[in-house]
Amino acid sequence: DWSMAAFKDEAIAAVRAQVGDGKVICGLSGGVDSSVVAVLLHEAIGDQLTCVYVDTGMMRKGESDHVVSLFKEHYDMNLIHVDAGDEFLDLLDGVSDPERKRKIIGGTFIDIFEREAKKVGGAKFLAQGTLYPDVIESVSFDGGPSVTIKSHHNVGGLPERMDMALVEPLRELFKDEVRALGRELGLHADFVERHPFPGPGLAIRCPGEITRERLAVLREADAIYLDQIRKHGLYNKIWQAFAVILPVQTVGVMGDERTYENVLALRAVTSTDGMTADYYPYSHEFLGETATRIINEVRGVNRVVYDVTSKPPGTIEWE
Ligand code: XMP
Repeated sequence: DWSMAAFKDEAIAAVRAQVGDGKVICGLSGGVDSSVVAVLLHEAIGDQLTCVYVDTGMMRKGESDHVVSLFKEHYDMNLIHVDAGDEFLDLLDGVSDPERKRKIIGGTFIDIFEREAKKVGGAKFLAQGTLYPDVIESVSFDGGPSVTIKSHHNVGGLPERMDMALVEPLRELFKDEVRALGRELGLHADFVERHPFPGPGLAIRCPGEITRERLAVLREADAIYLDQIRKHGLYNKIWQAFAVILPVQTVGVMGDERTYENVLALRAVTSTDGMTADYYPYSHEFLGETATRIINEVRGVNRVVYDVTSKPPGTIEWE
């Protein structure tokens, strides 16, 4: 694609012009956006770049190992794996308000990036995969100043307290263009095709208080759900699919006993940019089989429901 080839060259030149011989930290989540930024910057500035993968303790099953090992295998770049699960989860203890969750998480990300920036000898820049829809949504949600840290969601007065300048080479792109750029950069297909995953991770799929126990139940169920989607060849037909563990318990029966366990909601949508979305019309067979597997294989869930809300009026995430 010649236009993406041209975009890539321009973006590389722009990054070089912006950062000069300065050092750059890049938050790498393994999502397509941050992966594309990482590879683009690596091509642009090589060793001046250090990628930081932050395990928030709210990643999906096996995700941290998968992302870090794939990147290490394919790219000869500086990559730090920060295991910050306890730091995040301790700060989130007892917090159930969605906006407070996001503020705490966003603030902790910044603390970590600043810490890592010092460790590499003073990085002056923070790179991240902000896309055009993030820019638009951040303005319309907050109505506030030009919020530059990724979207309405992660923000919480962060730019003011951050010392680093932002490098955001994808600010003008939509998701499908980011994927095209990723292919242009030779990014591994595993990353190019990946469903979006929000920065706060499983925190916003755990409405109410986040506990390690609830996260563990959610993580197992979510993994089975995604396994079902892959097995049925549906992964690339869906924009995003995930499970949500609800802050409510319902009655069930298991053998002769009554159970009082968690309810899990499944979500899947199609979309082209995340700004509008339709729920995915699974077959009843698929839904039934998936619910049965989750209930049989995950201790702590006795009911599964499917979310049939489109966006608008719903949002993709539940909080
Ligand atoms: P909503 O729920 O607003 O989501 O319809 C639109 C897209 O944004 C993702 N999302 C987030 N991404 N931090 C992020 O980095 C967040 O706090 C956040 N909240 C939602 C969501 O997964 C979907 O792709």
